[in-house]
Amino acid sequence: MTRFDDLGYPIVIAGDVPRALATFLRERGARRIVLLADRRIAAHAERIRRALRGASAPLLFTLSERRKTLKTLEGVLDALAAAKADRETIVVGIGGGVATDLFGFAAASYMRGIPFVAVATSLVGMVDAAVGGKTGVDLRAGKNLAGAFRDPIAVFCDLAALATLREAQFREGMAEVVKHGVIEGGETFEALETLAPHPFKKWPWEKVVADSIRVKAMYVADDRLELGARETLNLGHTFAHAFERATRYALSHGEAVAIGLRGAGLLALRTGRFSEAEHLRVLSLLALLGLPLESGGAATAPVVSAMSSDKKSRGGALRFVLPRALGDVETGVIAAPRSVRAVIERLRTPPGAREFR
Ligand SMILES: NC(=O)c1ccc[n+]([C@@H]2O[C@H](COP(=O)([O-])OP(=O)(O)OC[C@H]3O[C@@H](n4cnc5c(N)ncnc54)[C@H](O)[C@@H]3O)[C@@H](O)[C@H]2O)c1
Ligand SMILES: [Zn+2]
Repeated sequence: MTRFDDLGYPIVIAGDVPRALATFLRERGARRIVLLADRRIAAHAERIRRALRGASAPLLFTLSERRKTLKTLEGVLDALAAAKADRETIVVGIGGGVATDLFGFAAASYMRGIPFVAVATSLVGMVDAAVGGKTGVDLRAGKNLAGAFRDPIAVFCDLAALATLREAQFREGMAEVVKHGVIEGGETFEALETLAPHPFKKWPWEKVVADSIRVKAMYVADDRLELGARETLNLGHTFAHAFERATRYALSHGEAVAIGLRGAGLLALRTGRFSEAEHLRVLSLLALLGLPLESGGAATAPVVSAMSSDKKSRGGALRFVLPRALGDVETGVIAAPRSVRAVIERLRTPPGAREFR
């Protein structure tokens, strides 16, 4: 079991989360507990219930990104009311990033906020969504447009749950893990290079998840409301969001982040940062993990326009987070539109002999 307290509440990474959670809730003197869970992991939620004395059956919701909506939120709030949840109640939300974002927002708004514990069961949930206090749902106009910054009282990363995670879901999480590895560099990045050739099921997940959370938690601790330092965590994401939007989400977020990490490396090289050798290390790592490095069909113009419309809200200039080296990342870099366009064009084809020309 690994535990972080940097954010003022425990983040626990454990193989036996039911037991660790039971201890935490007992020590908190929890009077009432309501379990909310993603229906897909119902069996796992049931295992958690059995470990908690006095918790009733988990309330299950059919979730997906398409159901991360105000309508689903209303259903969750109604279910909390029907369960007679009150300010003495602790809500435990179990599932991937969609679940912890949505249940966290429900707990933040029900009776103007009741205590929330996140139990992350997906890799994305563990290394990204459940850490940092951002909760919310999507609106028709865009992802995560309605929500709240609100810290949980604890986060549990449920390593046993990874046993049922699909390969594609591991890869989704690995894109963020590699991003954290590039930001942190050193042993954190090297450990991923060592593990990459091995099947996910054999990885020492407690260490990998802990290494990754350590990076995110450090930037979150410095910047709770995302006004500055946390921008570092957007490495690769200016490209990623543009590719996701230009392909109408045909690329998953993790795939787009992998392509975006290559894009950030290329733009860094073009603007006199980074080294070719380190850029190639990032590419090999992503490739070994089965993540894509090229955007395939995505034409350059729509990606450029998705990127600039994304940035208009921040005053027009295209700002990037770029690596200077593994473990040394610079934020707020203004890049010439010509360079950005050249990088997007290059991302249409796989890396090869022409990567640096
Ligand atoms: N709040 C934040 O800071 C933050 C950060 C990153 C991502 N997010 C959000 O997280 C979401 C993506 O997270 P995600 O990839 O976990 O999505 P998700 O919650 O939809 O989970 C992905 C899939 O895996 C299933 N699943 C979850 N745990 C499982 C398990 N242990 N075994 C088998 N299947 C399991 C889910 O049912 C779903 O089908 C997005 O909505 C994104 O906006 C939020
Ligand atoms: Zn991301």
